[in-house]
Amino acid sequence: QDTYRLPLEYVKGVPLIKYFAEAVGPLQSFQAQPDDLLISTYPKSGTTWVSQILDMIYQGGDLEKCHRAPIFIRVPFLELKGPGIPSGLETVRETPAPRLIKTHLPLALLPQSLLDQKVKVVYVARNAKDVAVSYYHFYRMAKVHPDPGTWDSFLQKFMAGEVCYGSWYQHVREWWELSRTHPVLYLFYEDMKENPKREIRKILEFLGHSLPEEIVDHIIRHTSFEEMKKNPMTNYTTMPHDIMDHDISPFMRRGTAGDWKNTFTVAQNECFDADYAEKMAGCDLSFCSEL
Ligand code: PPS
Repeated sequence: QDTYRLPLEYVKGVPLIKYFAEAVGPLQSFQAQPDDLLISTYPKSGTTWVSQILDMIYQGGDLEKCHRAPIFIRVPFLELKGPGIPSGLETVRETPAPRLIKTHLPLALLPQSLLDQKVKVVYVARNAKDVAVSYYHFYRMAKVHPDPGTWDSFLQKFMAGEVCYGSWYQHVREWWELSRTHPVLYLFYEDMKENPKREIRKILEFLGHSLPEEIVDHIIRHTSFEEMKKNPMTNYTTMPHDIMDHDISPFMRRGTAGDWKNTFTVAQNECFDADYAEKMAGCDLSFCSEL
């Protein structure tokens, strides 16, 4: 009872689940290495997908090598902490260079060393409405979050930034701003859906890497939603059932762009759009399928 469904705790104004709130203090002394690669996202934006793409690139397309461990071990989740699981900091320390590291932290909580070392960042943004729906189902199945309540009450909390990691609007904006001064490749989930080959080429160019055409095609095949949904090394079914209950909602749920249309009511959509216009005013970041 004192392990799950606990209220969010605020650290430097950012709401986090209790376990992550405990992790961020010690994390501040994390020492990045210049050849680390940081995968940064607001939750539910395509993190696991781009992580699998990057690990496959790092392994030269060798699927067997990508079966060596679940995605959250191959790509350590920096602020991960939870009942009965190794912390992200422990996992990252055991990971040989060059390391792929995942975070959802907003800049206020990011370990300074990642910025000082000019660590390359692959950021993935996804349209806010699909993120809200995906996050709602994730809150339902991952009991380390508070109870999401009804969809309508969750949506209100999402719009107010009162969900784990805080405001989506601030997150996508501040990492976009950072890309002016720091090596950030800013990608969109919807672009990856539309043309994965084009987006993988962007990643390769950013990494200064090249791969033969047939390996790129092989990576695209094995990082499709259908393949990743049935792959135990990417679908999170190896997480303890207490932490993620896939019977409530699978981690690999729909994997589409525009699924929000099946959930938002007309009234919710109007209210969301008006609020969105205010929160994103003056921002030159455009979501190609702000649907
Ligand atoms: S997390 O927990 O924040 O790391 O989750 P994250 O991986 O960012 O987001 C999970 C959503 O991404 C979908 N997903 C994919 N979509 C398309 N293709 C592939 N390969 C893929 N892998 C994961 C996943 O289904 C979640 O979205 P929804 O809309 O809930 O299905």
